[in-house]
Amino acid sequence: MKIIGGSASRMLAGELAQVLGIELTKTEFRRFPDGEAYVRISEDLTGEKVILIQTTHPDENIVELFLWQDAINDFEIDSLITITPYFGYARQDKAFESGEAISARALAERIELFSDEVITIDIHNKQVLDYFNKPASDLSASSAFARYFSGKVDAILSPDKGGAERAQKASDILGCDFDFLEKTRIDAETVEMIPKNLSVEGKRVAIVDDIISTGGTIALATKQLKEQGAVEVRAACTHGLFAPSVFDKLYDCDEVVATDTVESDASKISVAEEIADVFG
Ligand code: R5P
Repeated sequence: MKIIGGSASRMLAGELAQVLGIELTKTEFRRFPDGEAYVRISEDLTGEKVILIQTTHPDENIVELFLWQDAINDFEIDSLITITPYFGYARQDKAFESGEAISARALAERIELFSDEVITIDIHNKQVLDYFNKPASDLSASSAFARYFSGKVDAILSPDKGGAERAQKASDILGCDFDFLEKTRIDAETVEMIPKNLSVEGKRVAIVDDIISTGGTIALATKQLKEQGAVEVRAACTHGLFAPSVFDKLYDCDEVVATDTVESDASKISVAEEIADVFG
């Protein structure tokens, strides 16, 4: 088995290789002065089962992913499993207005081209997997969140009903409280986010979401939970897409962490073990 880590997922690929007890395949990556990518695989892949890991954010990493696949495809390999830790464009999973691209479909069709299998993590909408014609599966980061928050929180919350399963799984593993927040618009300026059933008074809570982008969702949830008596509010996301001013907005949060599906300084949680389980 060979593991190739694209430049956007070197950290995760390295962790995975370590968990599986194999060396990362030697590769070269650089950018030309105009920004175009150059990739080279420096080892023979003949007859190998190859795992390629490259996240799809921001867009330049998608092109790089295609270059890695092209290079891999030139070897007589056994099979290629492409792992896109963050599968981008999953929020545009249909044409909301006539004439729009179905971006998630466009990405799925191209990513699967040279792949025998595709694996994603906490894809925004699991129905996007139906756009693949090859085996495609989605792994959950819930157990990774549970490992990280063990002993640190009394409750795990989802900021909305859509993410409830992810948060509930983590709380089940930890044996702590769980709930999701319900959003109610009070007037033009005020939106309330209140846990459906749980009182957070005196509790240390973690809000777990798939994506933090502008930070608007977590900022509002944190403010409201503190007003409702939570003593600590931590925020975690699978995919830290972090817009430039996001951390200024999250000043109220006691901690903001992300997994390594999109690598940044906030990537304190690794999903390498969850991926390794597939190959174990
Ligand atoms: C929404 O459906 C997602 O699960 C996230 O809650 C959302 O993408 C977060 O975005 P932002 O950080 O911009 O509020």
